[in-house]
Amino acid sequence: MTAHDAEADGYEPHDYDALYRDTADSGGPPWDIGGPQPALAKVLDRGVKGPKVLDIGCGPGDLAIALARRGYQVTGVDISRVAIDMARAKAAGEGLTVHFEVQDATELSLPSAPFDSVFDSGLLHSLHRRGGGAVEAYLALLPGLAAPGATVFVLAVSLAAGHGWGVTEELLRAGFAEPQWVDTDIEEIDVAAETGGRELSLPGFLLRTVRASDT
Ligand SMILES: C[S@@+](CC[C@H](N)C(=O)[O-])C[C@H]1O[C@@H](n2cnc3c(N)ncnc32)[C@H](O)[C@@H]1O
Repeated sequence: MTAHDAEADGYEPHDYDALYRDTADSGGPPWDIGGPQPALAKVLDRGVKGPKVLDIGCGPGDLAIALARRGYQVTGVDISRVAIDMARAKAAGEGLTVHFEVQDATELSLPSAPFDSVFDSGLLHSLHRRGGGAVEAYLALLPGLAAPGATVFVLAVSLAAGHGWGVTEELLRAGFAEPQWVDTDIEEIDVAAETGGRELSLPGFLLRTVRASDT
């Protein structure tokens, strides 16, 4: 599958390795902007609870590495071995220790859980595109990964981007409802992407929520 086909049809789990491999010489897939999403970069110096931080669907690792640079104990997981190999090489190049692992977010099993902060930069909308109960399976596992009082950040492209995929505010609110999640805040943001050397900006959401202490 080429990046173009995947963009049109949506990605199956096995497509991600091919996509990362096929685009390695041309700047990576559209979401690989060479650093964390700007809306998440803003929260890195405030609002991240530590010491243990999880980045689910970490891709080539830029967000996880930015967190590790700030001294957090970071675990990054992704379904793509190619992406995880890239992330490991980047972290090693900076002399940083980040625990990167190949795992399917719909069946995550991490003995190091629970985490004090959890990041999802573009995973939820990818699972939503895939359908077949992937979102439900992922959302059912998340509460067990977040410690009581942990902060969870989810950055997702909005359906309003007009590509026929993306999430709605209602879907996010339903997925992070009380009593398991409290103080949920959803901000409209711009999601950055790059394709064929062109910079794109897509409408999206940044959800921030807190894992309730007593459920
Ligand atoms: C839109 S990309 C975002 C990558 C990175 N977080 C970023 O912000 O650049 C979605 C990532 O989720 C990964 N992914 C897709 N389905 C997954 C699954 N079931 N479990 C774990 N990772 C998955 C893909 O391999 C891809 O790296």
